[in-house]
Amino acid sequence: MKIPLINPDLPRIDQVKDSFDEILKSGKITNFGKFVRDFEAKTDEYLGVETVSLSSGTVSLIFGLQALGLQRGAKVIIPSFSFVATAQAVLYAGGIPIFAEVEDDLNISVDDIERLLSEHDDVGAVIAVHMYGLPARALDLERIVSAAAERRGKKISLIFDAAHAFGSAQDGRRVGSFGDMEVFSLSATKVLVAVEGGLVATRNPETANRIRDMRNYGISSKYNAHFPGINGKMSEFHAIVGLHNIQHIDGLLETRQIKARSFRKIIAENTRFGLIEWPEGAVHTVKDFTILVPEEKAPGYRDRLMHYLGGKGIETRSYFYPPIHEQEYFKAFSTRKLPKTESLSRRVLSLPFYTSISDKEMSYITEQLSQFERELS
Ligand SMILES: Cc1ncc(COP(=O)(O)O)c(C=O)c1O
Repeated sequence: MKIPLINPDLPRIDQVKDSFDEILKSGKITNFGKFVRDFEAKTDEYLGVETVSLSSGTVSLIFGLQALGLQRGAKVIIPSFSFVATAQAVLYAGGIPIFAEVEDDLNISVDDIERLLSEHDDVGAVIAVHMYGLPARALDLERIVSAAAERRGKKISLIFDAAHAFGSAQDGRRVGSFGDMEVFSLSATKVLVAVEGGLVATRNPETANRIRDMRNYGISSKYNAHFPGINGKMSEFHAIVGLHNIQHIDGLLETRQIKARSFRKIIAENTRFGLIEWPEGAVHTVKDFTILVPEEKAPGYRDRLMHYLGGKGIETRSYFYPPIHEQEYFKAFSTRKLPKTESLSRRVLSLPFYTSISDKEMSYITEQLSQFERELS
């Protein structure tokens, strides 16, 4: 059996043919055409806040930080356990990343952010990631960031890197409206796919308008640039794919929840691998289905397991290893050890998971995990 890590949810050609025919005939393939506008109207409605479509999640983070007024050289607290784009965006926006710890659920530690906010008085923003689509502790983060800003009499922006989390929710509240802004990615590995793309969601119309200008070279009107900006536009081709997928998002999410719960159950019943906590009340996109190898055996055991599964036709990744503060370019920004991040990043193993994964594929993966345990015990 050959099982890929992901298999993106994409429309069949007959489902998008008319739309593609239309733009190819009219030549209206970009520059905020009808499909981009329609896609944004749908994302506004779904999230209940204003959204702006962009060319990628990374560009959305860069624009988001700048639109919220990040000053050059200001510190930005981010988790080291994330995809490197979170940190690259901080640098491109002119900030300096400061790395925070995560909790056992791989979401950023509220206590550690509180500690960092009390140690650094020049923090301009905090970015929390909803890791793999599991909502971060948003209300606690809102509380401590606004308390620190009040103590200091200075704004500290709170952004959620929701790259993995379109459709996630906590206690009935959908991700998208927390903090000052939430930023989504729409790339091929995500649940809402627009091939490539990003989305900024904010309750503040001024911020949204600022980002609309930024994605259009800083031009507000009549080829007259009022702000710094680059090309951050989404094309009509991408919007057509995104538009198709958002119309099916609830079904995709429901299927993923059911399949992920059943995958967790068979892994828990048949192996000794750890699972990441998934509290009741959380709608989880399960962007990645990640298990943990036993702490005392990592990381050699994880690497051997990846090799073993690869030999059985099962594609895996270690999302996210190395943690950002250990990556070559970012070591220079690392100021302290992050024991939990360092340990967990050596234990994570992301298994194949996608909306169309079959029971047979999940059983096969579980059998191979169990077989590996037997062979190595
Ligand atoms: C946590 C996180 N942030 C940001 C991004 C960047 O998104 P994009 O690839 O759309 O630029 C990713 C991409 O996977 C991500 O995983």
